Amino acid sequence: MASNKFKRMLNRELSHLSETSRSGNQVSEYISSTFLDKQHEVDLTPSPLKEQPMSLILGVRKLGLPHSSSLSSASLPRLGVPSPREDELAQELDDLNKWSFNIFRVAEMSINRPLSCVMYAIFQERQLLKTFRIPVDTFMTYVMTLEDHYHGNVAYHNSLHAADVTQSVHVLLSSPALHGVFTDLEILAALFAAAIHDVDHPGVSNQFLINTNSELALMYNDSSVLENHHLAVGFKLLQEPSCDIFQNLPKKQRQSLRKLIIDMVLATDMSKHMTLLADLKTMVETKKVTSSGVLLLDQYTEHIQVLRNMVHCADLSNPTKPLAIYRLWTERIMEEFFRQGDKEREQGIEISPMCDKHTASVEKSQVGFIDYIAHPLWETWADLVHPDAQELLDTLEDNREWYLSTVPQSPSPPPDRHLQHRPRFQFSMEDLENGHSHAYHNQNGGLRRGEEVEEGEEAGGTKIRRTTMENVIVVERR
Ligand code: CMP
Ligand code: MG
Ligand code: ZN
Repeated sequence: MASNKFKRMLNRELSHLSETSRSGNQVSEYISSTFLDKQHEVDLTPSPLKEQPMSLILGVRKLGLPHSSSLSSASLPRLGVPSPREDELAQELDDLNKWSFNIFRVAEMSINRPLSCVMYAIFQERQLLKTFRIPVDTFMTYVMTLEDHYHGNVAYHNSLHAADVTQSVHVLLSSPALHGVFTDLEILAALFAAAIHDVDHPGVSNQFLINTNSELALMYNDSSVLENHHLAVGFKLLQEPSCDIFQNLPKKQRQSLRKLIIDMVLATDMSKHMTLLADLKTMVETKKVTSSGVLLLDQYTEHIQVLRNMVHCADLSNPTKPLAIYRLWTERIMEEFFRQGDKEREQGIEISPMCDKHTASVEKSQVGFIDYIAHPLWETWADLVHPDAQELLDTLEDNREWYLSTVPQSPSPPPDRHLQHRPRFQFSMEDLENGHSHAYHNQNGGLRRGEEVEEGEEAGGTKIRRTTMENVIVVERR
């Protein structure tokens, strides 16, 4: 499978990176443990038995529904949520359809209800309440209860991130190349999936939950632990009559909707990243467009494939946003990683990559995250919807250069040669499937496709020839 080849290629690149320096090694470890679906070694240490019985769905609070009684369509605030600065909030919401939308300011002005606020704005804008006959009070009760189930004390995975991913999906859905492609039900599913996709996130990774024998890992047998949990909580909250926003949908539609949502949220498990990317590349290679440049997707499987990649892209969209906003996200994710590292230190277990506040390099981790994960994904998305995503791809590359320029320079060599070129990790389905030998070059120039190269290496059935230039990978199928 193409994804296995991608994984092998990424592994090879990461092993080079890990040899460059201690922080290079940390970045490499982080990427390989988070984004590659590896088989984990089995730890046979017995876990202490927990005494309390497992509740039906962990994390779901008793549904007293504090919001339902206070909400009626007549008393609903103009923007869905109360705000002491309603006019300023309305002004921020004018940018709802833009990639540069500032969700941090929306949170500030909505008394920390960014998710409820953007959900209301997006559903109004797209007339989804009308289309699916969703009573507005039920809608607000659900989204506010959902928002309450995000943890305010978790630095990154709180309702601000959910609101950001939802608004990003809203913009991606409006890409001209996707005009008229998706049904209303698919649009509803994508927005709902984004809104619930990290609900009740405890601020630690799947691997941490598995390593510490948590109740959640036990419940989901160590596979996509968090993602299964986010889905279970998101759907459980619908069960109250005053919360069931899908109450007026015919049974068949509800079933399709549920299937779509489950697919999209499970695809946010980062260990599925390489498979998703490989499949997206296949789609790009064979894509068909109408005369007006709109993507032609024939089957259901193609629709869902684009949608699951869309939510995944939105989940990894921080580095494509204006730098000031991206930097705020970086601060938050690093704070969450460091808190996990502190817990691991306290418990005497191995500290996860990028989670040790004493050794991690924030700047290098962002350059690595962009080079190995965000850029390859966004570049492929940009090919799919060409030319709609060109601007955000440019921002991504500028942001990468900015982080690179802030890497603290150590006075003594060796310098981090590996970080100098961007993006230094590219591959194409054509290379893998057709047996051609190509060289790829980055935007900085260097080797062009097909030019002579040096140095040969072998991996599986694929002969990989690397150049002496760091930014070029040449693949030749044997
Ligand atoms: P989650 O939001 O659950 O899914 C996407 C994951 O990508 C996210 O958790 C992090 O693990 C990772 N991620 C997203 N943005 C960054 C970033 N800026 N730096 C490092 N890792 C990131
Ligand atoms: Mg997640
Ligand atoms: Zn997320």
